[in-house]
Amino acid sequence: MMTATPHVVRSAAPGKVILLGEHAVVYGRAALAASIDRYVEVTVTRAGGSACPAAVAVGAVGATGPVPIQALRRAAELTGVNPAELETAVSANLPVGVGLGSSAALSVALVRALAEFAGQALADSAVCARAFELEKIFHGFPSGIDNTVVTYCCLIAFRRGSAVRPLVAGRPVPLVVALGGAPRETQKTVRGLRQRWEIRPELYEPLFDEIDCLVSAAESAIGTGDLQRLGALMNANHALLQRLGVSTGELDEMVALARASGALGAKLTGGGGGGAVICLCHGDRERLVEAFTRAGWHAFSTDIAGQDRGIDAADDAGRFERRDGARA
Ligand code: MEV
Repeated sequence: MMTATPHVVRSAAPGKVILLGEHAVVYGRAALAASIDRYVEVTVTRAGGSACPAAVAVGAVGATGPVPIQALRRAAELTGVNPAELETAVSANLPVGVGLGSSAALSVALVRALAEFAGQALADSAVCARAFELEKIFHGFPSGIDNTVVTYCCLIAFRRGSAVRPLVAGRPVPLVVALGGAPRETQKTVRGLRQRWEIRPELYEPLFDEIDCLVSAAESAIGTGDLQRLGALMNANHALLQRLGVSTGELDEMVALARASGALGAKLTGGGGGGAVICLCHGDRERLVEAFTRAGWHAFSTDIAGQDRGIDAADDAGRFERRDGARA
């Protein structure tokens, strides 16, 4: 008896860090973001096959499980696939729900996997647009920066309504990411800030403008490889995020620890209200990772796109080629 070969499609997309400009970017200001060398992978199998998650290949430290139903339904609708025909599984070595772009990575990987499953060749711009629709399910009113940086896997300057500008760092930007323990949701902090802004826009608009100026200065610092300056700008951005009311006592403690341990700069990244901080280092990142570990926080080094040692170097599994054959 002949059995049909199960149709299995796998697609992975990276997480991201916002280097500067989160929240203000929702209000039309600029932000800088980069994809990182951690991934979410979606496996799609024809129903009746086995959607075995590729957790082993990716190095599972994040979540594994099926794609959330609402996102799956919407992605299926956007790619013209019947969700009843398929089974899905997700695996990740990207920490989930901490502001590192896990929902954008899931959205992009899912759209690409479903499109491939349906035999469609989607251009990156079409992937990005569909992933943005999924991001609305996760975040309510996203600016679009997360799905953009995750789709194109690079270092970008982003401003709503303007063309995305890929950047090249003048020298590597060595980061340590540390994770807070408090549960959080980007949607909540974005909504909370919007409510405060609606009541007193005159208080928040100048803060957004200040962040915009920092972003512009940081873009130059990244281009010329002036890490000292970039660190100082990140510190200033964190102070403004505190004034926006999106930091927490724990995030402030983590930022203080990073600076006391020699980081050039540190700030919360993403939505805040808990989640992750990024720390810019001189080079010896292990010492900072150890300092966080001793204090009870999980931390890891990460390489961002847009520099010599980008995602390529960290991707020893070699499985994250983009559709056009270029390495992510
Ligand atoms: C989330 O990664 C960044 C925020 O600015 C929200 C957004 O831009 O959609 C907080």
